[in-house]
Amino acid sequence: MGSGLDIAIVLAAGEGTRMKSSTSKVLHTIAGRSILGHVLEALAPLAPKDLRVVVGSQRESVEGHVREIAPHATTVFQAERNGTGHAVQLALEGIKPSGNLIVLAGDTPLLTSFTLKEFLDVHIASENDVSVLTAQLPDPTGYGRIVRDELGGIVRIVEQRDATDEEQEIDEINTGVYLFKAEALMKSIHQISNNNSQGELYLTDVIALIKAETNKAGAILSNDYTETLGINDRAQLAECAAIMRDRINDAHMRAGISIIDPTTTWIDATVKIEANATIYPGSWLQGTTSVAEDAVIGPRTTLHNVSVGAGALVLESHCTDSTIGEKSNVGPFSFLRPGSSLAAGAKVGAYVEVKNSSIGAGSKVPHLSYVGDATIGSGSNIGAATIFVNYDGVEKHRTVVGNEVRIGSDTMLVAPVTIGDGAYTAAGSVITEDVPAGSIAVARAKQRNILGWVLRKRAKTASADAARKAGASE
Ligand code: UD1
Ligand code: MG
Repeated sequence: MGSGLDIAIVLAAGEGTRMKSSTSKVLHTIAGRSILGHVLEALAPLAPKDLRVVVGSQRESVEGHVREIAPHATTVFQAERNGTGHAVQLALEGIKPSGNLIVLAGDTPLLTSFTLKEFLDVHIASENDVSVLTAQLPDPTGYGRIVRDELGGIVRIVEQRDATDEEQEIDEINTGVYLFKAEALMKSIHQISNNNSQGELYLTDVIALIKAETNKAGAILSNDYTETLGINDRAQLAECAAIMRDRINDAHMRAGISIIDPTTTWIDATVKIEANATIYPGSWLQGTTSVAEDAVIGPRTTLHNVSVGAGALVLESHCTDSTIGEKSNVGPFSFLRPGSSLAAGAKVGAYVEVKNSSIGAGSKVPHLSYVGDATIGSGSNIGAATIFVNYDGVEKHRTVVGNEVRIGSDTMLVAPVTIGDGAYTAAGSVITEDVPAGSIAVARAKQRNILGWVLRKRAKTASADAARKAGASE
């Protein structure tokens, strides 16, 4: 008997009716990955030579997803859901399997590689024809129960609906994860019948068949029942997501990352964080986000596919598909939209929105600005309330700002326009033409003061009184 895993069958054809969703149950996500994706991820280190996913309900979307995340897998179509036994029959059609074969459900995202590997080791060592992974649940209602004989060996699995009152008292349940010697499964899988309360072919019935035939059936109790929880409705989806969140946060904290409030910090399974980073409450790190050492994130910050450099600070902000350089500073209340890139030591401050723009080393956009489709050099300062006017109503255009530039407050930079190195713009300017290096552009009406106007035109007002007190006259 080989030591590895030869075949894996993942059952994912079910309707998922209780989700009340237009999306297939197994495509719902927790921690940034589909439920099915978590199952396949847990399975991956066991490296099955032949991976088969049984699909049915919402076939196209599930198949498409499998092609994307596990291109080496074969999908098997189960047109009618005639039960888990029927699904396995279809998965085995036309092949001559040998070696070790695992069957698991596509809706148990908390299973770990560690548990699956242990299960495989124990199964191989036992030389059993079938091993069932079991768990003891505080409330076993709804699950198949493990019926053992007086010697403690498994005799059969009985479904909730088919169980006697006495059997319903059993708190050891079938997790839906099984390991078989493939030949033993092949022999028994066509002997099952649909003579049960649901009129379905139950995979679980092969256990009693194998037990009677060879007596080589085992039930292995897993020590963490939360791993085997399945998702059937949205309440269970949230419950599993919270367990996954705690698991992920625990691992990060043990690796030297400070998470101030793990219950309000949600980090996708796909996110990478280096030691000595700190995450403040209410933060959500998603997708391919990575956070380097000594960075500080949050509170209340969302990072979606964002790379954060070492020692950077991102405070109360929302950032997507962007790069934040080391020791740069973002927030509070900044919005980095896709394609934003901040070089080392750059700053994007309060109420600033950045899109598809790069901000050079040490450059600052501290207050109340929109930076769209811009390239800003290093050491430049963009005055408060500056707007990069990138849209002419039809097309978007780029603005280029050089190094060591000082853009005056409330400047409109009407793209396409280029501001040369070391140039200035006067506050309140509307810049429509290129500004050569080292010059100042003043693009606003010249100020004129009309003396005594308030005293004449607003005679009996508080302003007129104040002006008179200050010595103004008509
Ligand atoms: C099944 C087990 C039960 C176990 C429980 C663990 C059987 C008869 N019962 O019950 O002992 O305690 O899982 O969660 O196997 N599926 C198909 N095609 C089908 C039917 C189901 O692919 O025709 C898939 C489902 O998508 C799901 C998995 O098989 O991923 C389990 O099916 P489900 O209907 O949820 O079985 P349970 O009633 O939960
Ligand atoms: Mg189920």
